[in-house]
Amino acid sequence: MKPIVFLNWASAVLATLPLFDFERHQLQSSDLQHLSPSDAALFSYDINSTRRTNRTSNCKVFPGDSAWPRPRIWNLLDELSGRALIASTPRASSCYYGPTYNPEDCKNLTSQWTDSYFHMDDPIEMLSPVYQGLTCQPTTDPNATCTLGGYPAYAMNVSSVAHIQLAINFARQTGIRLIVKNTGHDFSGKSGGAGALSIWTHNLKNIHCTPTYDAPGTTWTGAAFKIGAGVQVHEIYKVADDHNLMVVGGEGQTVGIAGGYILGGGHSPLSSIHGLAADQVLSMEIVLPDSRFVTASFTQNPNLFWALRGGGGSTFGVVTSVTVKAFPTIPATTSTFTWSTGPSSNITHSNFWAAFRAYLDHFPSHVDAGIYSYFFIIPSNNEYTFLMQPFFAPNKTLNQTQTLLSPWFTRLHGLGIPVSPKTQYFPTFHKAWSASFPLEIVEKTHVATASRLFPRTNFENPSLLNDTFHAIKSSSEAGLTLIAFNMAPRSTEDNAVNPAWRKTVMHALSSVDWAPNATVQEISDARSKFTFGHMQRWRDVSPGAGSYLGEGDRVEPDFQQSFYGGHYARLLDLKRGLDPGDVFWAAAAVGSERWRVFSVDGLPSENGRLCWVG
Ligand SMILES: Cc1cc2nc3c(=O)[nH]c(=O)nc-3n(C[C@H](O)[C@H](O)[C@H](O)COP(=O)(O)OP(=O)(O)OC[C@H]3O[C@@H](n4cnc5c(N)ncnc54)[C@H](O)[C@@H]3O)c2cc1C
Ligand SMILES: *[C@@H]1O[C@H](CO)[C@@H](O)[C@H](O)[C@H]1NC(C)=O
Ligand SMILES: *[C@@H]1O[C@H](CO)[C@@H](O)[C@H](O)[C@H]1NC(C)=O
Ligand SMILES: *[C@@H]1O[C@H](CO)[C@@H](O)[C@H](O)[C@H]1NC(C)=O
Ligand SMILES: *[C@@H]1O[C@H](CO)[C@@H](O)[C@H](O)[C@H]1NC(C)=O
Ligand SMILES: *[C@@H]1O[C@H](CO)[C@@H](O)[C@H](O)[C@H]1NC(C)=O
Ligand SMILES: *[C@@H]1O[C@H](CO)[C@@H](O)[C@H](O)[C@H]1NC(C)=O
Ligand SMILES: *[C@@H]1O[C@H](CO)[C@@H](O)[C@H](O)[C@H]1NC(C)=O
Ligand SMILES: *[C@@H]1O[C@H](CO)[C@@H](O)[C@H](O)[C@H]1NC(C)=O
Ligand SMILES: *[C@@H]1O[C@H](CO)[C@@H](O)[C@H](O)[C@H]1NC(C)=O
Ligand SMILES: *[C@@H]1O[C@H](CO)[C@@H](O)[C@H](O)[C@H]1NC(C)=O
Repeated sequence: MKPIVFLNWASAVLATLPLFDFERHQLQSSDLQHLSPSDAALFSYDINSTRRTNRTSNCKVFPGDSAWPRPRIWNLLDELSGRALIASTPRASSCYYGPTYNPEDCKNLTSQWTDSYFHMDDPIEMLSPVYQGLTCQPTTDPNATCTLGGYPAYAMNVSSVAHIQLAINFARQTGIRLIVKNTGHDFSGKSGGAGALSIWTHNLKNIHCTPTYDAPGTTWTGAAFKIGAGVQVHEIYKVADDHNLMVVGGEGQTVGIAGGYILGGGHSPLSSIHGLAADQVLSMEIVLPDSRFVTASFTQNPNLFWALRGGGGSTFGVVTSVTVKAFPTIPATTSTFTWSTGPSSNITHSNFWAAFRAYLDHFPSHVDAGIYSYFFIIPSNNEYTFLMQPFFAPNKTLNQTQTLLSPWFTRLHGLGIPVSPKTQYFPTFHKAWSASFPLEIVEKTHVATASRLFPRTNFENPSLLNDTFHAIKSSSEAGLTLIAFNMAPRSTEDNAVNPAWRKTVMHALSSVDWAPNATVQEISDARSKFTFGHMQRWRDVSPGAGSYLGEGDRVEPDFQQSFYGGHYARLLDLKRGLDPGDVFWAAAAVGSERWRVFSVDGLPSENGRLCWVG
């Protein structure tokens, strides 16, 4: 038996801000001393003994396989972690006959199921349940069957770096699948996985503020926050506001700030003035696939630091904290308005589309003025609603905002479209954000989403503008919902953010839905038509542009180009070097092409084995 090698990497770490206490708590050889050598090997750093797969099936070791760890071994992992291991129970299992049946609890959870706050303390919930496989949704039929589906088998409720190292070592040494879940907001199910051990980062809630940052490799001397991986947007916004500061975070309230959001880029109501969230990062702490805990910054592991800022989550390791710039808070004005066609409206379809077309003329000038707008076109029975929710004008007065909107509103009046905007000035970013953005509905059960980053030239070149307009209109006419943002996240930072973002003035999402009783074939047809039909038209009018990986299509064609652009080769090289055994895998992540989830019904989801296809 080879000796188990422990490397004292902690001493090599030179954090730019002090490590959090939970980061100082790392796995030590003494933690495993009392184990037999064969047990200790399951939790050790010995990367050379990595089991990559169940070699018969070429898949990650799966529940039911003879190589699946025995209960005694799971119990050992639980013990070593100080009882932080949670065996998965789907939250909605109380709606089904069985040991957890509880009709009262079922009624409660059913009424709150689409509220993201309700799910935040759940270790396994995935907010895009299509990718879980819909095997245990709330139901009024207790005779129906609830199974784990694409939920992981176990979650490690981590409160130290040692927990993360234990989980990574264990997954690596046993050949089982490893996933990372923070809030579960991922659009493509990347925070779930059947038969996996999940690293659940939600409880890493530390926040540290420094009024003046001082570290080599950056000229930033303003305020900064060091933020634990589990901190959510609404939490950091509040703390920042308490210091009269603001940070670049999402519009969505419950999204994490320091997990998948920032690793994938992260757009924000402040993006047209400050860039993406990834552009604000000064330093990060991360546990790598070989369980080394390191700092990535401008001066430490700079290549990794480059990749972590935009190259996507669940790829290079588990980030435990990020340090980001903070800015003095600014006032903002927001405006919300809507109009619709339909029986109770005098707006014709032709005027509806002329009104939208008129808006597109202002996209470049609005982002140049710092605007971030969030708007919807919702089709229903061949009628349409336009909803602006909101037009967000950072650092603008009421008058400045009205002046920006007024040329478009003049056109609307000319088309006989009465708009009654609710326009309000707020003294701080936090007040403006909390009063103006909706809490999005989650747990939509029969829907798939895709997106496109439309470049500025699409709005400046008249013929491209016409093509862009018609591409969007045709999707709406086919009944697809549009959710879009007018923003321009420019930055001079050299990082792995999809280069398409730098040219963007519109990030547009489209989604297709299907009937709850649709057959697998019908769903498959609807999804194909969506991804390769409607979305192809969007791609055709924006050749060479891309798509935002944080809000993308799980089956995006040529995802390497779409999500990562010209950065893909460099990112892949780094991934292969740091994670040769593919301990980390997520759909459409860098290096993911060698594996595939073979789902039980063949539809794209996490409900099946992850197998080698390379
Ligand atoms: C309602 C809603 C609102 C949204 N609003 C915005 C918005 O305003 N701006 C925006 O840009 N995006 C937004 N998004 C998209 C969001 O940024 C992505 O879904 C993002 O991946 C969420 O990250 P998370 O860590 O919160 O979620 P999770 O689903 O838990 O994780 C997402 C991915 O990151 C990985 N991951 C998570 N934490 C870590 C970690 N510590 N280390 C390594 N990998 C990790 C996971 O494995 C997974 O692959 C929104 C999504 C929803 C559903
Ligand atoms: C792993 O194997 C490589 C090559 O065989 C060797 O150089 C390295 O020292 C080994 N590492 C450990 C930790 O045993
Ligand atoms: C490999 O997978 C097969 C199912 O495909 C299973 O029957 C077998 O037990 C697995 N082998 C091991 C060693 O786990
Ligand atoms: C259901 O919700 C109500 C109100 O939130 C609470 O008082 C009650 O205890 C809940 N019941 C169960 C079984 O959780
Ligand atoms: C569940 O199934 C049993 C047996 O088929 C049946 O008697 C019962 O009425 C069903 N319950 C409900 C709530 O449908
Ligand atoms: C997870 O651990 C934290 C302590 O870090 C604890 O407060 C929380 O209740 C645990 N959550 C679950 C679901 O076990
Ligand atoms: C906000 O506006 C004021 C006054 O116009 C200006 O001085 C300041 O630089 C602006 N701040 C930002 C962050 O744009
Ligand atoms: C903005 O203010 C100026 C003078 O203060 C006024 O003339 C103008 O009408 C205002 N613009 C709007 C759109 O209200
Ligand atoms: C629709 O009705 C509103 C008044 O409710 C009016 O202002 C507008 O001009 C009308 N539009 C058309 C196209 O008739
Ligand atoms: C605008 O695009 C539509 C659809 O692609 C096309 O039919 C029309 O001819 C174009 N108009 C102009 C002026 O280019
Ligand atoms: C789904 O339900 C609708 C009526 O609600 C029905 O017309 C359709 O045939 C059903 N489809 C399938 C596949 O059962």
